[in-house]
Amino acid sequence: MGIIFDKENKLLTLHTEHSTYQMQVDPYGFLQHLYYGDRLDTEDMSYLRMNFDRACAGNPDEAYPSRTVSANTMPQEYTGYGVGDYRINSIAVQNGDGSYAADFRYEKHEIRPGKYSIPGLPAAYANGGEAETLVVTLKDPVTDLKAELYYGVFEKKDVITRAVRLINEGEKPLRLLKAASLCVDFPYGNWDSIHFHGKHALEKQMERSPLGHLVKTVGSNRGTSSHQQNPFVILCDHEAGEDHGAAYGFMLVYSGGFKAELERDQFDSVRVVMGLQDDAFCWTLDKGETFFTPEVLMSYAGNGLTPLSHNYHRLIRENICRGKYKNARRPILINNWEATYFDFNEESILKIADEAADLGIEMLVLDDGWFGVRNSDNTGLGDWFVNAEKIPCGLRALAQQVNARGLKFGLWIEPEMVNEESQLYRKHPEWALQVPGRRPVRSRNQLVLDMSRQDVRDYLFDSISKILRENPIAYIKWDMNRSISDMYSVMLQAEHQGEVAHRYILGLYDFMGKLTETFPDILFEGCSGGGARFDAGILYYSPQIWCSDDTDPIHRLNIQYGTSFGYPSSTVGAHVSAAPNHQTGRTTQINTRGVVAMSGTFGYELDPGKLSDEDKQQIRKQISSFKKYYSLIRSGRYYRLTAPHQNYYMAWEFAAEDGSEALMNIVYTDPQPNPTLVHVKWKGLEADALYRVESKSSEEDGSFVHFGNPEEADRYEKRSETYTGRALMQGGYTLPWLLGDYPAIQIHIVKA
Ligand code: DGJ
Repeated sequence: MGIIFDKENKLLTLHTEHSTYQMQVDPYGFLQHLYYGDRLDTEDMSYLRMNFDRACAGNPDEAYPSRTVSANTMPQEYTGYGVGDYRINSIAVQNGDGSYAADFRYEKHEIRPGKYSIPGLPAAYANGGEAETLVVTLKDPVTDLKAELYYGVFEKKDVITRAVRLINEGEKPLRLLKAASLCVDFPYGNWDSIHFHGKHALEKQMERSPLGHLVKTVGSNRGTSSHQQNPFVILCDHEAGEDHGAAYGFMLVYSGGFKAELERDQFDSVRVVMGLQDDAFCWTLDKGETFFTPEVLMSYAGNGLTPLSHNYHRLIRENICRGKYKNARRPILINNWEATYFDFNEESILKIADEAADLGIEMLVLDDGWFGVRNSDNTGLGDWFVNAEKIPCGLRALAQQVNARGLKFGLWIEPEMVNEESQLYRKHPEWALQVPGRRPVRSRNQLVLDMSRQDVRDYLFDSISKILRENPIAYIKWDMNRSISDMYSVMLQAEHQGEVAHRYILGLYDFMGKLTETFPDILFEGCSGGGARFDAGILYYSPQIWCSDDTDPIHRLNIQYGTSFGYPSSTVGAHVSAAPNHQTGRTTQINTRGVVAMSGTFGYELDPGKLSDEDKQQIRKQISSFKKYYSLIRSGRYYRLTAPHQNYYMAWEFAAEDGSEALMNIVYTDPQPNPTLVHVKWKGLEADALYRVESKSSEEDGSFVHFGNPEEADRYEKRSETYTGRALMQGGYTLPWLLGDYPAIQIHIVKA
């Protein structure tokens, strides 16, 4: 049993296979946090708590005359507001009488089988009976505001989810100014925090720093989870590494603005609060109304960052992603964006299809520019009907011709947006978000449709589903190419305008839910100018997301490295593009581009007609390698073997859960003239098993293997390559001396 209540001591304990989370109702009704860490047995951890009389700390009335009880030093599950806890709070509220106060006390709790769900919001779901739910109800006795704290326990997956439902049971309306999903206190420790920052075309750069005495805020006020920060933070021991030390993850299942705050206080206690962005947030709760926060996925690993990542990978693959393509292999695609940009027609697309079919590619995706008057990114968004000048035969005939070549057909859309130069805007200018009396802020010369409006969603559903019904479409790339501003909806009264950002996302989820349910056979891929909405919320509707508009494989190494901390490779949209690369001008070998893209969903984004015969041959080989390694890449354990800029190469590995095989990938990011010998240590193997090197790509893939003398080359070629798992994990594998344009090598080992 994952959730245990000890009535006598008022202890609530949540166990997962390797972790324990414990809280206690104290004599005054505060729900105090006691412990989150390695799995315990039946221990009561309340002995850890100690109260002192602290200067300038407030003492609650019930404790009078004690001066040692204080919310300001108490580890709590969900704080009040304005009542003596001066650290970051979980909630901010203005009550009907104008006061700014909330003070919660335990009322009751309930343990339920199964995993709770959240109306209108994505959340992790249980397969069979794998999860349990705890709901603890806290209540403010003065305003009758209730906070139901939801805990979902995925015992075998070492994940505990959190969400909060706020209920106004008082007589007067109140205004929520902040409503976090989670608060966790760590009363002691020496912590680093890790977050993933970036920009367009360079997302999810991992940054780690010791947590000083301040509030560190990671967030987005862009109405999207954003390129700039990802809604995932890690708190870990200062000493923690990939394989050792305590590590805690907090991932928000949400695609809009968010805020994660980490505070190290005066006594070195650390508090993590995470949830919706509260900047310009104000949600009115009338009598009897409720508000559900988005969910946070919380995980703990006592032995480092790698197992923490594995917990997230498994949960996202099995309990967030849904639908037909949750498990089915997704087609290897070619996307015409970097091949043609807006400059294409029927003929050029079919030429790409011909070449792609010949290479063994399985689907052609027609990107931006196929609809309305869309010859650049300045016009046309909103007009979801085919551009007859570019595609005179119509979309259906084009798709059929692509199908006739043995390829599935996929299509790009950007439904949430409108250009002023469009029929839609001319008809419905009021559908765009805009503040009365002000001209809306343009970005990429586009405006944002008010997704909180039902009529907007109805129009979009009708026009997009018409396309999906009338054409043989197997895949949709759902783009969103700007940050949101002008958060004002003409549908809402003045006092409700602080709700627009969240209502937008609720509307988006409603629309995505309806569309994906209506077309269950279509593979949806999320995208937001690359990775501006790479989050677990989007993954609930589409099992993969275009990871970045930067397709340079050397940059991608760092982007995919950062992404791997929280998200499995099955979610990472990655393509082989042309050389020189369009974003950086860098030339890399096609083998290297293949090795990097293969660690994601895998596809191509180039004009195959411009490739040399050698490159085409390489592509055929890549496709067969990807198919061969597919299940290992999709569901094997992912190991980061190096960090960016640590050495002259980057290495990562996929190892089968049962230890039967593994694939090591290495890219030489800085090929050396006179290199230090490199021995990369494998991970996740069975120590006593014998492993045979089944294949290793090198020379034949375009890299030049240099040995210095012929005997060494001979010895290398002829050596028998069978080693114990122990040898490979302890001694490592010696890499060849590779030269060329960022050469790469893949080494596949199988149990002998
Ligand atoms: C941004 C995407 O990330 C690109 O892949 C491409 O689809 C463009 N938008 C099209 O406008």
